[in-house]
Amino acid sequence: MVDWKNPPRLFIPGPVHVLPEVLEQLSRYTLGHRGKEYSQLHKETVDMLKQVLFTEQNVFLSTSSASGVWEGSIRNCVDHNETVLCTMCGAFSDKFADVARSCGRNVEELKVDWGQAITPEMIDKKLAEGKYSAVTIVYNETSTGLTNPVYEISEMMKEKYPDVLVFVDAVSGMVGLPLHFDELGWDVVFASVQKAFAIPPGLAVFAVSNRAMAKSKTVTGRGYYFDFQQFAKSAEKNQTPTTPVIPHIMALNYQCAKLLKEGMENVWKRHSQMAEYVRGWAKENFDLFCEEKYASNTLTTIKNTRGIVVGDVIKAIQTKHNTVFGNGYGKLKEQTFRIAHMGDITLADVKELTGWISDELK
Ligand SMILES: Cc1ncc(COP(=O)(O)O)c(C=O)c1O
Repeated sequence: MVDWKNPPRLFIPGPVHVLPEVLEQLSRYTLGHRGKEYSQLHKETVDMLKQVLFTEQNVFLSTSSASGVWEGSIRNCVDHNETVLCTMCGAFSDKFADVARSCGRNVEELKVDWGQAITPEMIDKKLAEGKYSAVTIVYNETSTGLTNPVYEISEMMKEKYPDVLVFVDAVSGMVGLPLHFDELGWDVVFASVQKAFAIPPGLAVFAVSNRAMAKSKTVTGRGYYFDFQQFAKSAEKNQTPTTPVIPHIMALNYQCAKLLKEGMENVWKRHSQMAEYVRGWAKENFDLFCEEKYASNTLTTIKNTRGIVVGDVIKAIQTKHNTVFGNGYGKLKEQTFRIAHMGDITLADVKELTGWISDELK
């Protein structure tokens, strides 16, 4: 049983460690979601998110985890007779393709081995076939600790395929990695707040381009809960279509103000410094799972080159230090392990954790 007075410190790639001051935001008095105070909170939060995401287009708050927006992006922006190209390089990008299929859309896969990146050349080759209306990409593949070269991909897309819509899963990338939504020309981007926003799970943030909003008007069967048109209608009143998770929005408001005060460039730099340290430690003691040039700045997936029993080390660190890091995801369990360095975790924190793991391996 968890000792609630002394909860474990999380270094798993979501949910991540949450600061007490953020938790406090979740216990403020609640508001009526159709009242003036909520509208103020909503507007202020969305305005700040637009700065965080470098967009002047549409930003919405969804009381769901990010998986809902996987579905929302497909059901709103891909028509029933259209084909979507799903790029797949790990557990979560693979799931995005499953979601598109489960929405009854035609899916073509562009699949590489886990740990490989999706490159602009690969996408270019597929899109040259001319049959795709949209492409799905994961910014940061949480299973493999890999960051796809999305800036290069976006340059290629803007130049050669400006009419193809781009849906980006930035669940473990948003906040921790650069993200200039308008400049990138993306159509939908989303994340849940239990990653680098460092808030407990329960809320997702997403941005939608104006052209994707226009397209969604023409698509039938968009469903109810994730209908972008309903989000837009409610946004005119600084509201959400259904009752939102107001405590989380208070925490998001708090976190956005903090991020903007720090400055997004500094936030990204802080994440890259933690990542560099962990990568250095990983290379000295094990190896990186993916090519260093694509290694993520929000989490590191480490190849278990020494054949340690990862589960045992995780248990030992939890018992001795009340701290938890992640085993490998799915088929990579025991072959790899993952250390998240996103959100309000600091360089001192990751130094402490890696030191403890080193001690445990002596
Ligand atoms: C890259 C990525 N996409 C999607 C998801 C699903 O997000 P959620 O669990 O918030 O629905 C996750 C969860 O870890 C993820 O890491």
